[in-house]
Amino acid sequence: MKVELQILRRANAGDTPRLQKILYEYKDAQTTAAFALHDINENGCTDIDGEPVAKIRWMCSCMQKKCGACAMLVNGIPGLACDTILTEAAQNGVVRLEPLRKFPVIADLIVDRTVMMENLKMMRAWLAEATKADETVGELTYDASRCLQCGCCLEICPNFCAESSFFGMSAAMSSSRLLSVLPESQKKEFFRAYRIHFYEGCGKSLACRNICPAGIDIERLLVNSNAAAVWKRQKAFHVRKEEKP
Ligand code: SF4
Ligand code: SF4
Ligand code: FES
Repeated sequence: MKVELQILRRANAGDTPRLQKILYEYKDAQTTAAFALHDINENGCTDIDGEPVAKIRWMCSCMQKKCGACAMLVNGIPGLACDTILTEAAQNGVVRLEPLRKFPVIADLIVDRTVMMENLKMMRAWLAEATKADETVGELTYDASRCLQCGCCLEICPNFCAESSFFGMSAAMSSSRLLSVLPESQKKEFFRAYRIHFYEGCGKSLACRNICPAGIDIERLLVNSNAAAVWKRQKAFHVRKEEKP
């Protein structure tokens, strides 16, 4: 069985992109886009015009939906290549792979997501001194800790762009891990950073709600983080049993 892979390619950052079409014969019904890219690079092939396909540049590490490196657009929707089963993703037999659009392209499917880390640095999203974990919010902070920093939520967000002072949901995820354990000395400054770089720029449209490949319950974390950082209602950060999904 075959699927037509359409891959938006640039050898270098400034090049004009071109769409290369490859008729790819997949191994089985569970073959992922990541496997196909790896397979094409390892074994070589020709495109539908008979031209040899130059090595496709893309990023991966874990191949198990754990690192976020392989985030890209799949038929226009952000997702992980290693989480994209070709038979499920295909539309009229076509799977189109493009780099994320909110970040500068380095080559082919690789983008530069440095801004995500720089934004966390700007928010000073770390603990400056030892502190004690609050076990009553363990479930929430664990959920937030599963963030891969893949950038899919930023890609889908109508309010995020790399140059903006609004840092998007990925920064809110890292923030929400800190909110319940911040020492008093950091609270005022960090709450202010949360308000400026997330709360005031977020339209609460929840376009990012179901896009997270890690399956994080973004809405629940958002509600609790806003309550803690903006309304200073630390108690709202606690989850009652009946609130659990
Ligand atoms: S919240 Fe989800 S979509 Fe956003 S960066 Fe983290 S893992 Fe990716
Ligand atoms: S709720 Fe809307 S504006 Fe806020 S981070 Fe999600 S997509 Fe962006
Ligand atoms: S390669 Fe790690 S998430 Fe896809």
